[in-house]
Amino acid sequence: MRKKLIAGNWKSNLAKSNAIQLAEAILEQGILVDFELAIFPPEIFIDSILEVVKSTVKVGAQNCSQYTEGAFTGETTALQLASAGVQMALAGHSERRHLFAETNEVVKLKIDKVLSAGLTPVFCCGEALETRKANEQNNWVEQQLEESLFHLTQADFSKVIIAYEPIWAIGTGVVATPKEAEEMHEFIRKKIAAKYDAATAESTRILYGGSVKADNAKALFSCPNIDGALVGGASLKANEFLAIANAAK
Ligand code: PGA
Repeated sequence: MRKKLIAGNWKSNLAKSNAIQLAEAILEQGILVDFELAIFPPEIFIDSILEVVKSTVKVGAQNCSQYTEGAFTGETTALQLASAGVQMALAGHSERRHLFAETNEVVKLKIDKVLSAGLTPVFCCGEALETRKANEQNNWVEQQLEESLFHLTQADFSKVIIAYEPIWAIGTGVVATPKEAEEMHEFIRKKIAAKYDAATAESTRILYGGSVKADNAKALFSCPNIDGALVGGASLKANEFLAIANAAK
């Protein structure tokens, strides 16, 4: 049985005091029985947020370097994140892909670094609107899986969480219908089964991301292949974020 994971990606929002308040509010109100919570705060606040949430809520990084260590000004490595107590890291978020030119190859390198530092990678994939209009979304996502993830051994792959985030749904208020999301999640699971095996596919958590809100979460979470959500805008308010989490019960 896959436990649902509700993850909040705070992106480049919030000043330090607001970030701490938000973490405190999540901790106060969240009763984590049937699901897991994770937050991805701005990297500079990770230490402070870890002090607030301790181990109750998982804390992840929104990005990490593709390099191991050394002269890479401004980069934070997976090993540094691990040494700071971070447990997860996003890799391949569409904003990183588009605004910072991260290719499937770069995402692959990041996945490798995240895994070798002992962190859990949350691999983001998903197609643009033109790709969906051309009905090419399955091929697109399959290529992302093949080029960034499917080089992994079964043992390493089993540590990966996948987030399907259609780009046309991110920050737009246009959520994928439960049918659209479920079809893609089922497709991804079938590809994992074909590459690895049925048990690996069955145990992989596949989150949906893109305009998830309290009022659309329940319908998404009731789909058999949707194992939680990666939430952007709606994760910036504790009430809304926890209402989404409660829809996973
Ligand atoms: P959104 O962002 O919930 O604001 O659409 C999701 C994401 O980018 O992970």
